[in-house]
Amino acid sequence: MSKVEITDKILYVGVNDRDIDLFEGQYVVPEGVSYNSYLIMDEKVVLMDTVDARKSEEWLANIKVVLGTRQPDYLVVSHMEPDHAGSIAAVAEEFPDMKIVGNAKTFTFMGQFFDFDIDSKKVVVAEGDELSLGKHNLKFIMAPMVHWPEVMMTYETSEKILFSADGFGKFGALDTEEDWACEARRYYFNIVGKYGAQVQAVLKKLAGAEVNAICPLHGPILKENLAYYIGLYDTWSSYRPEDEGVLVAYASIYGNTAGAAKQIAEMLKEKGAKKVAIADLARDDMAEAIEDAFRYDKMVLACSTYDGGIFPCMEDFLSHLKAKNYQKRTVALIENGTWAPMAGKKMREILEGMKDVKVLENTVTIRSAVKADTVSALDKLADEVMNA
Ligand SMILES: Cc1cc2nc3c(=O)[nH]c(=O)nc-3n(C[C@H](O)[C@H](O)[C@H](O)COP(=O)(O)O)c2cc1C
Ligand SMILES: [Fe+2]
Ligand SMILES: [Fe+2]
Repeated sequence: MSKVEITDKILYVGVNDRDIDLFEGQYVVPEGVSYNSYLIMDEKVVLMDTVDARKSEEWLANIKVVLGTRQPDYLVVSHMEPDHAGSIAAVAEEFPDMKIVGNAKTFTFMGQFFDFDIDSKKVVVAEGDELSLGKHNLKFIMAPMVHWPEVMMTYETSEKILFSADGFGKFGALDTEEDWACEARRYYFNIVGKYGAQVQAVLKKLAGAEVNAICPLHGPILKENLAYYIGLYDTWSSYRPEDEGVLVAYASIYGNTAGAAKQIAEMLKEKGAKKVAIADLARDDMAEAIEDAFRYDKMVLACSTYDGGIFPCMEDFLSHLKAKNYQKRTVALIENGTWAPMAGKKMREILEGMKDVKVLENTVTIRSAVKADTVSALDKLADEVMNA
């Protein structure tokens, strides 16, 4: 690896993981993911975070290229989730004199994950504590529950660099050319989405600080146009819709409900909906459907009745939305059932348990297949969605 510089004294030493099958045990990552790690070279040398154990060796080699004959004095641990903390024991063994910096919770979790002698190495920091490295100076900012309790960010005060932990992270290896927002949004809502209030609290703490670059634990280092990224994080964490538009999400056994969903999607486009996304909940990426549910201000759900209830992939989708604090949106319902349609009623019950979710009163009921009367009912529902 050649040296990658953030500034001439702050260098990237992270790794790409392109062959992981599922990130965090559930997310498909077609372009892989990066585990970011950085070295700050000053009178004291600081290593910012480690990487997943899958990539320990490659990462240690990267570090040695930058270090030359030097040794790190400190390892700062922003987050104990194994995608970042997985190589702590390996690096502690490699550099036995290195101290490890974290907060009280960091070390509780570290002891749970590892067996090496942590006590002789630990430096415990708390909100606002600083660590001088010579010209550089680290200030620690606690970010509890973004999205684990021990998470902390680090602000380097001389060059004004924010090490933002999983905040501002994105799926995709660093050599991927793709839009930032799409994969950062999918990452945010699925992994951090539940903790909007905690993200808001950190954004408020950071509001006064000048920031020249954001160094997250996944995805690209952000150096320009930072107001754009911070603005998106503010929108996402306050659960405001990012765009006017409609997600049409369907769960269909034999395709009739799917047909109705596609039909209403076309009707919405014809009636002037700015953006219409469609998701087959049985086949498409669930995480992408969740992302789109949060992105837009409206949603149409179409579901077959299954054993007196909701078809399982729709139930799964709704339980994800509930867990991620889905709120402040308008939802319309389409149900299908051959003898006793129930999906609409059951979906409504779940949605009404969410905060500030308006469910349109009119539910379109299909009895098996789409007929002429269904088409006019869908058209009417599309009008109601547009006017909501
Ligand atoms: C395993 C199974 C269970 C079903 N349970 C019900 C039910 O409890 N009540 C009902 O009205 N229809 C039930 N149905 C019928 C479907 O809801 C109906 O045929 C379907 O919604 C048609 O739309 P589709 O082509 O999108 O699957 C069931 C169908 C299957 C295959
Ligand atoms: Fe994490
Ligand atoms: Fe992470």
